[in-house]
Amino acid sequence: MRVCVILAAGEGSRMKSSEPKVLHEILGMPMLEYIILNAKESNIEKINIVVGHGEEKIRSHFKDDDSISFKSQPIGDQYPYGTGFAVMQTLDSFSDDDTVLILNGDTPLIRSQTIDELIKFHEINNYSATILTANMDCPFGYGRIVRDENAEIKQIVEEKDACQKEKLIREINSGIFVFKGKYLKKALEDLDTNNEQGELYVTDTIANLAKSGKKIGGYNLKDNTEILGVNSRDNLANCTRIMKDRINKNYLVNGVTMIDSQFVTIEPKVKIGKDTVIYPGAVLQGDTEIGENCVIYGTSRIVDSKIGDNVSIDNCLIEESVVGEGTKLGPYAHLRPNSNIGKNTKIGNFVEVKNSKIGDGTKAAHLAYIGDADIGENVNIGCGVIFVNYDGKNKFRSTVEDNAFVGSNSNIVAPVTVKENGYIAAGSTITKDVEEGELSIERASQKNISGWVERKGLLK
Ligand code: UD1
Ligand code: CA
Repeated sequence: MRVCVILAAGEGSRMKSSEPKVLHEILGMPMLEYIILNAKESNIEKINIVVGHGEEKIRSHFKDDDSISFKSQPIGDQYPYGTGFAVMQTLDSFSDDDTVLILNGDTPLIRSQTIDELIKFHEINNYSATILTANMDCPFGYGRIVRDENAEIKQIVEEKDACQKEKLIREINSGIFVFKGKYLKKALEDLDTNNEQGELYVTDTIANLAKSGKKIGGYNLKDNTEILGVNSRDNLANCTRIMKDRINKNYLVNGVTMIDSQFVTIEPKVKIGKDTVIYPGAVLQGDTEIGENCVIYGTSRIVDSKIGDNVSIDNCLIEESVVGEGTKLGPYAHLRPNSNIGKNTKIGNFVEVKNSKIGDGTKAAHLAYIGDADIGENVNIGCGVIFVNYDGKNKFRSTVEDNAFVGSNSNIVAPVTVKENGYIAAGSTITKDVEEGELSIERASQKNISGWVERKGLLK
């Protein structure tokens, strides 16, 4: 069986945050979640997460995921500290023959493909342990890989414990390892805190295994950005930029056009169909799905929404809504949660829609508020129409049936129904139902007083 251990008990003090480090987000998803998803993609059957600092928050964030088991690392002066002590908390979760993968909760850019390759390399060569290593121009801060004259790995030396000669070594430990279960168990037993930081280092298991004649593998990483760790907000910003570029590149390869991909932000769970064009400034978030051949202009933000094919969106905010194919949104429309917009509709300039259904072919082209309404097909909602859905205490729904016409600057005071082909004259405040084919007009009739301006001495 393949088991994985994710180390996430550290404090992350350099983040200067009240949130646990591993819950800090990269493009809307906690960095720990990236690592969990990768582990799942790499067919890891059992995921253990070692938690300590801020553990309640981490546990509660992932409480619905049954595939994860959390292991508490006791923290306090009476306990040792360090990555070795963290791994010791998971001893009951793997057996001698299991392959145990160790990942760090603060290294979110690692790819599942790399994990797969690492595990394969380890299993094929039957190593006791395999380290994911990388050659760094600037290895400062990392554990160094010490090899003997036959290039066999002998130990990992931490920066703080390294001598001058060891500090020159450019091959570093990524912090990601694979072990055969029984050797990890054995090597953990022999750890001690005789080092500069007084910690139990998981890295010392390597020297323990090498001393007892076990073969250690070193799998060299091709893309060093994969192991960039997040220790500060600066690192977080850097990893965010790399992840953003990676996601955007993937869409560019798969048929999406971006006018300036540097200024397009797409979160990891978003899906986009081919031939869609995205202009700079767009932010696509959460579980959003965009169809094929859409155009998204300007600073549009789309959150947890499903957009059909051939939709044009110009500087809009769309939240938890569904938009049918061929529809034109904006400029500056706002779809608030639970708006279901039909096909070939137009929701235009400064129109706000909330918790409403709008049928195919309907138009609300300018300056309207449509809240808690069910609107049929081919309806015209004039400029300045307001669905008055709130009496200060309760909300009510209104219905406007197919082919109805709501004249400009009308108020539809809910609950009210305008039946099929009902017409509402501009400027009316509608409080009673309008029957099929009726015109409803609710306003004082116009009076023109001739000569009034002159009599008042106002004539210019
Ligand atoms: C570690 C490695 C180093 C490697 C580097 C790669 C050790 C001793 N050193 O150093 O060789 O080059 O990663 O980034 O392992 N953690 C716990 N419990 C603890 C201590 C740490 O769960 O008691 C977790 C942290 O939350 C973090 C991970 O382990 O996710 C790594 O710990 P960190 O202190 O960042 O180790 P590094 O100094 O970066
Ligand atoms: Ca680290």
